[in-house]
Amino acid sequence: MQRILIAEDAELNRELLQNMLADEYLVDTAADGALALEMLRAHPEETAALLLDLQMPKADGFTVLAKMREMGWMERIPVLIISGEHSVEIENQCFELGVSDFIHKPFVNSIVKNRVRNAVTLFTCKNQLEQKVALQEKTLKEKDQIIRIQTEKLREAKPFNILMMEFQAAIMEVETRLKVLNAQFSQQFNRNPFESIKSRLKTPESIYEKLERKGYPVTVESIRENLTDVAGLRVICSFPDDIYRLAEYLIKQDDIILLNEKDYIRSPKPNGYRSLHLILNVPIFLSDEKKYMKAEVQFRTIAMDFWASVEHKLKYKKDMENADEIARRLKDCADSIEELDYRMQSIRNQIDRSLH
Ligand code: GTP
Ligand code: MG
Repeated sequence: MQRILIAEDAELNRELLQNMLADEYLVDTAADGALALEMLRAHPEETAALLLDLQMPKADGFTVLAKMREMGWMERIPVLIISGEHSVEIENQCFELGVSDFIHKPFVNSIVKNRVRNAVTLFTCKNQLEQKVALQEKTLKEKDQIIRIQTEKLREAKPFNILMMEFQAAIMEVETRLKVLNAQFSQQFNRNPFESIKSRLKTPESIYEKLERKGYPVTVESIRENLTDVAGLRVICSFPDDIYRLAEYLIKQDDIILLNEKDYIRSPKPNGYRSLHLILNVPIFLSDEKKYMKAEVQFRTIAMDFWASVEHKLKYKKDMENADEIARRLKDCADSIEELDYRMQSIRNQIDRSLH
């Protein structure tokens, strides 16, 4: 049973209310404000509601409210004012002080019970939610701490740094091959198949997070074995057909192995995301050996990249209202961008034909 406190100097009212509520709650009573505060202090966590008279000896209702605010109890304990005939101003003043509700005289059994029950239920839910959020925050902080310590360890470990150097070499290898293709293309066809290449090495934080999320051990061997996107390249092309041409030339090279291909251009993700992803095994040449490293290459048109960058930024915005509508509008944009890509490509084809 939950505990409630009735602070009221008139004995008759105290007993009346106590009798009405005794079958649902453990009812404590106090005949003045000072005693009420003392009892609250003794059970600040367990008190589920306070029924408070405004006119009482020693400390009146307003003094009790002021003290409760000071102690932060108003956040946790709903206060219902036992009211005779108070003016609208006084009622407003009470609400401004954070009072939940009023119980008017003469007391009607069902009304008293319902008002108290409503206030208690609401605050119990609110308190439980707040506790849950506080617990989640604590867990998140602890997790952050663990990630910091673990990634610090990774950063200091020599084998990890060697591995990162090897992934960086894989990035350079793929980048060079793409640049060579670009140079050859511009000689042959007088235009460049890609606009730019961006590359990035996955950060230790992100590596750790992904290993944990996928349930893999956090070791150098595990990173090498299980992660395909530590070496990441993004190739931004002008037109969709350049993407396929470039990808084909790259895969055809006799020492590059295609491990996986995800064609989100032919089959876009439900949110509208489009890109061609290749997971490659790429040879790197060290002083004493040739090693194969995994690399992820994402091919996109400028338009696809524009969409993905904006969508990526919005995805991490917290507390978004109308998330559904935003997702729908983003999907609409993705559709328009797809159409635009092919219209631009067809214009380029027309220009090419008219030149020959
Ligand atoms: P990750 O665990 O994120 O690597 O996803 P995955 O292993 O399922 O592979 P997928 O090919 O779906 O995604 C790989 C990468 O493509 C992501 O890390 C992003 O860079 C990009 N990507 C995939 N889906 C989306 C998307 O919906 N929006 C944006 N902006 N980028 C995406
Ligand atoms: Mg990834």
